[in-house]
Amino acid sequence: MKDTTVKFAVITGASKGIGFSVFRELTKRGWQVAGLSRTQGNLPRENWIQCDVTESESVRNALREALKKSEGRLDALILNAGMGIAGALEFTSEEDYRRQIEVNLTGTAYCAREGAAVMRRNGGGKMIFISSLAAIFPLPFQSFYSAGKAAVNALSDALGIELKPFGIRTCTVMLNDVRTEFTDNRIKNFEGDDIYMGRIEESVAKMEESERKGMHPEKVASAVCSLLRRKHMPSHKIVGAGNQILGILYRVLPADAMLWILGKIYG
Ligand SMILES: NC(=O)c1ccc[n+]([C@@H]2O[C@H](COP(=O)([O-])OP(=O)(O)OC[C@H]3O[C@@H](n4cnc5c(N)ncnc54)[C@H](OP(=O)(O)O)[C@@H]3O)[C@@H](O)[C@H]2O)c1
Repeated sequence: MKDTTVKFAVITGASKGIGFSVFRELTKRGWQVAGLSRTQGNLPRENWIQCDVTESESVRNALREALKKSEGRLDALILNAGMGIAGALEFTSEEDYRRQIEVNLTGTAYCAREGAAVMRRNGGGKMIFISSLAAIFPLPFQSFYSAGKAAVNALSDALGIELKPFGIRTCTVMLNDVRTEFTDNRIKNFEGDDIYMGRIEESVAKMEESERKGMHPEKVASAVCSLLRRKHMPSHKIVGAGNQILGILYRVLPADAMLWILGKIYG
């Protein structure tokens, strides 16, 4: 018999960019969706729940409020909230790198923890972690961002094994160059660029130029929706044909060859 019940999703970082595109796409497809973010942004008032993912209490309350709307149902959790910092590791302030890790990794873990408990009790669900190709192709002068996303990949994979017996699937979606406000919101620090022979600014400028010409967030949204439709969601997904070729290269190239190429492009 066909399940006609309306499905319910929670998306973190849904006020704009990729999160908002996923919100719009799922809503269009008949899902009921709650968007979590610090600001309402583009979200309709009734779908927005204020939440700072770096505060565990805020995450717990937001999930509780979301589940009231869905009467306890949680079919999908999209862990998308994130930000970026750039600069030489040696000159990165403690405040900046703590922020980077708190939002992209700790915040993601807080949300996954709340979601896991609910989905386990409900007997299943899907978690999609929005990650980056920087997780497997670590970017110079974005070391904390890359390290945080590599950790998100590991978190998604490990959690997927932990939760498999409960019918919960996890997937890490690796993106590259998506046209959003992420680029303008990046916290940049060019301190030490004289010592690093201008390489910091040059590397970040190159990265930002490709981001501004990158894919539309709607493309990511439709990839996320396809994953949610699948009975067996893969553990890893790279969005975009060109990026998928990079994923194959990652598997076949020796690490030093891969790092040499990265150094030539962004070093
Ligand atoms: N754009 C790219 O090229 C690209 C590439 C690879 C991966 N990604 C990943 O994609 C995800 C979404 O990025 P985006 O491009 O859509 O960036 P964006 O347009 O800047 O959106 C970021 C979202 O995260 C939310 N957010 C940030 N800090 C938060 C916090 N402490 N608590 C709750 N929400 C928070 C923001 O909402 P508020 O400010 O209202 O809180 C916003 O909704 C990120 O994880 C990013 O790392 C992006």
